[in-house]
Amino acid sequence: MQKAIEVNELTYSYDKKSHAVDNLSFEVKKGEIFGFLGPSGAGKSTTIKLLTRLISPPPGKVFILGQDMSKVKYSFYKKVGIAFENDVLYPTLTGYENLMLHAKIYGTPKEEVLDMLKKMDLFKSKDKKAGDYSKGMKTRLVLARALVTKPEVLFMDEPTSGMDPEIAAYVREIILNLNKNGTTMFLTTHDMNEAEKLCDRIAFFNKGKIIELDTPENYKKRFGKQVVTVEHNGQKKTFSKQDDLTMLTDIINSKSFDSIHSQEASLEEIFIKVVGRGLKGEA
Ligand SMILES: Nc1ncnc2c1ncn2[C@@H]1O[C@H](COP(=O)(O)OP(=O)(O)OP(=O)(O)O)[C@@H](O)[C@H]1O
Ligand SMILES: [Mg+2]
Repeated sequence: MQKAIEVNELTYSYDKKSHAVDNLSFEVKKGEIFGFLGPSGAGKSTTIKLLTRLISPPPGKVFILGQDMSKVKYSFYKKVGIAFENDVLYPTLTGYENLMLHAKIYGTPKEEVLDMLKKMDLFKSKDKKAGDYSKGMKTRLVLARALVTKPEVLFMDEPTSGMDPEIAAYVREIILNLNKNGTTMFLTTHDMNEAEKLCDRIAFFNKGKIIELDTPENYKKRFGKQVVTVEHNGQKKTFSKQDDLTMLTDIINSKSFDSIHSQEASLEEIFIKVVGRGLKGEA
């Protein structure tokens, strides 16, 4: 397996009382979209800061594309894109100028900057000041800036947090398209819907630790209930695999049912079952 990200027994504390990241180990394959799903205060942003060296990790703990992140030089960030929710754009510069400034540092040509603005549906607004952009536009500009150098690995902290659903869907589409071109992605979210739509594998994350790690499909297979609910003569009846299903087949054969629903556990229900708490609220 070619590894894009490797984390070995990483621990980090802001104070002596508790660990924000607690003995964390995991690997992300090249080309994968890997998500950290966890509630507020779980340590998601701290983890992503350590992975990208916004907080310097100790030696031998974090490797991106085989490089020890405690030792990388600034030029390595050409290969690594970072898009954080509260990222600072230059508000008095236009969208185009914001991107150009970043592109120049890494020698990315102007044509690719213009191309990226088109991709992000920002071309028409490229000469508007970034400070006058809407929240959704700012987020797309931040993502554009992270992507304009064509990174091999992209880190995103809550990429669609606070966006209206339509723009969030658009940004997710962009993320999936980029991944098809081979970009490895690491993202954090407390939105199970987002995790399920985007991620190849999802780590259930709480109190600085990975509690479970699997694909969305496997979570459902492992923890989901497979039940069918039938509405019949004004009554609802639920059948599971273990039940005698004669009554169910009789109802179906007689065509006397009003409705039939198969029921799958949502990732949120599974998260609560596995982690023992929900995705909203305090840690
Ligand atoms: N700069 C800081 N100084 C002190 N403590 C911090 C700092 N940043 C985060 N923490 C603490 O570390 C823990 C993890 O915070 P972190 O921001 O990593 O969580 P998160 O999962 O990203 O939460 P959210 O979903 O709200 O963004 C929390 O208890 C938080 O209070
Ligand atoms: Mg956070």
